[in-house]
Amino acid sequence: MSSLFLLLLSTAITAAVASIPAYPSVSTDCTVSAADDNPVPVRREVYGDGRIFDISHRYTVDMPSWGSKGGLGQFLWLPSSMKNGSRSNNSLMKLQSVHSGTHVDAPGHMVDSYFDAGFDVDTLDLDVLNGPALLVDVPRDSNITAKVMESLNIPKGVRRVLFRTLNTDRRLMFKKEFDSSYVGFTTDGARWLAKNTDIKLVGIDFLSAACYDHSVPAHLEFFEGRVRKL
Ligand SMILES: *[C@@H]1O[C@H](CO)[C@@H](O)[C@H](O)[C@H]1NC(C)=O
Ligand SMILES: *[C@@H]1O[C@H](CO)[C@@H](O)[C@H](O)[C@H]1NC(C)=O
Ligand SMILES: *[C@@H]1O[C@H](CO)[C@@H](O)[C@H](O)[C@H]1NC(C)=O
Repeated sequence: MSSLFLLLLSTAITAAVASIPAYPSVSTDCTVSAADDNPVPVRREVYGDGRIFDISHRYTVDMPSWGSKGGLGQFLWLPSSMKNGSRSNNSLMKLQSVHSGTHVDAPGHMVDSYFDAGFDVDTLDLDVLNGPALLVDVPRDSNITAKVMESLNIPKGVRRVLFRTLNTDRRLMFKKEFDSSYVGFTTDGARWLAKNTDIKLVGIDFLSAACYDHSVPAHLEFFEGRVRKL
C-alpha cells in the first residue's frame, strides 16, 4: 500500500512538471568533458530518476520581492576574485529580506512568542520537509478556501502537498513587480486544512501561503494549529 502510494505521487509530479511552462524541463545530462576549455554548467531539475525535483526558483535581481515594485535587486557581490589576484572567489550575499524567493516560513514568522522562544527554521523537522509530496491543482477561479480544500478530497495520511494555482499560470514568480492579487489560503481554508487533514507541509507557487487579504490570520491558523503538536 505505501509503496504504491509513493509511486502514484512521483508519477503525478513527473507528468505535471514536464508540462508546465513555468518550470521548463532542462537536460539532466551534466557530463563535462575533461578536454573542454569552456565547461558549461547544466542546472538540473530532476535527480535520481525522478525521485527529487528541484522546483526552487533561482535568485535573480528581477525576481519579485514582497511589497516591492523593483524586484529583489542586487543580492550578490564578489569581494574576492581570482581575476583580481585573490586566492579564491568569495561571494557576499545580502538580501533585503530572507522572506524571498523559494523559502520556508519559520514558526516565529508571525507568532512573536515562538520567535522569542527561538523557533527558527532550524527547529523544523527535516523528516517533514523531505519526502514524497502530492501535487494538487486547485480551481483557478478562487483563493484556497475551506470549500476549495474540501473539494480537493486530499486523502488522509498525505503529509506534504504542493498547491499549484493561478499564480503559476500568471507566472507571478517571473514578474519583477510584487502582485498582491496572488492566490493563497484564506483563513477558513487554512483552518480547514489544519483541522481536517494530516498535512504538515504546505507548498505554494508564490511568496506566501496565505492570500494577501488574510495574510496574518491564515498564517496563524497554520502556525498555531500545527506547531504546538511538534
Ligand atoms: C577587481 O578589482 C577592482 C579594483 O579593486 C574592482 O573595481 C572590481 O570590482 C574587482 N572585480 C571583481 C570581479 O571583484
Ligand atoms: C571566480 O571569479 C570570477 C571573477 O573574477 C568569476 O567570473 C567566476 O565565475 C568565479 N568562479 C566561481 C566558481 O565562482
Ligand atoms: C485572491 O485574493 C486576493 C486578495 O488577497 C484577490 O486580490 C484575488 O483576486 C483573489 N483571487 C481569486 C482567484 O479569487
